[in-house]
Amino acid sequence: MKNVLCNPEKFVRPEVRKLIPYEAKYMPECIKLDANENPFPWPKGMREELFSEKLMFNRYPDGMAQDLKRAIAMYTKIPVEGILTGNGSDELIQLILLTFGGLGKAVIIHPPTFGMYQISAHLTNTTVVAVPLVNGLNLNTEQMLKAALSPEAHVVIICNPNNPTGTLFPRAEILQLVRESGKIVVVDEAYAEFAEETLMPEIKNYPNLVILRTFSKSFGMAGLRLGYLLGQPETIALIDRVRPPYNVNVFSQQAGILALGYLSEYQVQIQCLKAETQKLYEGLTQIPDVVVYPTQTNFILFKPGDPDGWTAELLKRGFLVRNMGVLPILGKCLRVSAGLPEENNRFLQAVREIGTGVTRI
Ligand SMILES: Cc1ncc(COP(=O)(O)O)c(C=O)c1O
Repeated sequence: MKNVLCNPEKFVRPEVRKLIPYEAKYMPECIKLDANENPFPWPKGMREELFSEKLMFNRYPDGMAQDLKRAIAMYTKIPVEGILTGNGSDELIQLILLTFGGLGKAVIIHPPTFGMYQISAHLTNTTVVAVPLVNGLNLNTEQMLKAALSPEAHVVIICNPNNPTGTLFPRAEILQLVRESGKIVVVDEAYAEFAEETLMPEIKNYPNLVILRTFSKSFGMAGLRLGYLLGQPETIALIDRVRPPYNVNVFSQQAGILALGYLSEYQVQIQCLKAETQKLYEGLTQIPDVVVYPTQTNFILFKPGDPDGWTAELLKRGFLVRNMGVLPILGKCLRVSAGLPEENNRFLQAVREIGTGVTRI
C-alpha cells in the first residue's frame, strides 16, 4: 500500500483558518493580576467538604445538573427550568450562537468588550456587527437598536459591567434594547456580584432576555469551569438542545452547590476585593500621565504612556497584567485585577517605580 502524504491544513474550515485564537497566558510563577479572578482561597471548610463528598468519578455526571440547578434557583430566584449550566460561561456563549446565530445571521456587540463573543461568532459563522462604545465607555443604545432592527440581526450581547472597561451601563438603556429590538438580548453579568446590580428580576417580563453568570469570578472557581444561563423556560429549552449531554463534570457541579452554601463568607471576600480595587484605583490615579478608568468590578482599565513598556517592566517585577492591545477609541491599554491586599501593595509600589522612570534589567 502506498502511503499518501496528507496535509491536515488543507481540510481546515475557512472560519477556523481566519480565527485569531484567544490568548491566555499561563505563568503560575507570577503574581496573577491578568484574569479578573478571585485571589482568595475558598471559604474555610469548603475545600475539605468538597473532598469528603463520595463523588462517583466512574459514572457520567447528571447531565441535567438538577441539584446544582436547585441551588442556583435558590440563589437567583429563577425557577429551575429557567437555568442552563455550562462548562464555564464561555461554553454558554457558544451554545447561544449555535442556537440563534449561524450563516446569514448577525450578532451585535459593543467593542471594547469580552473577546470570546467574537471568537464564538466566527466559529458559528455568525456575522459580527460592532457598535463601538461612545468614547470607548458608554453604550451607543440608539445605534445598537438600529443595528438590532436589521432582519439578519438575531442576537445582541451586552457585557454588564463591561470587561475590559469596568463600566456599568444604565439599566433603562439595556431594557430599552430588550423591549424594542425584538431580538435575543444576552446580558453577560460575569461581574454582577461586584457591581451589585442585576437584571435577573426582569427575566419574567421578557422571553428574549437571557443572563449569563459565572462561578469563575466572585466565587473563585475559575479553575473548575462553571457558568450558568438564566432565561424563561421556553428560551432556555431551545439553547439546551445544542448542549453536549454531560457538559458539566461531577466535581464542578458539587463545588457549585457547596459554594452557594458559603454566601456570607464570599460576601466578605467580595467587599474586600471592592475595597482593594478602590485602593488600586486611587494608587494608579496618582501616577503622572496615566489615565485610569472608573470601574464597578474587581479590575481596572488604565492607560500609561507606554503600555508595552509597562507590561514588560511589570513582568520583570513578577506581575502579570493583561495587555489589551489597541482598543477602539481608547487605544493601547492595560487591565489589572485586584489581587490579595499584600500583592496590591507591592503592585502599587512597582507602578510608582515604573511611573518615575525606574527600569530594571
Ligand atoms: C465578561 C465575561 N464573560 C464571560 C467570561 C468567561 O467566564 P467563564 O470562566 O465562566 O467561562 C469572562 C472571563 O473573563 C468574562 O470576563
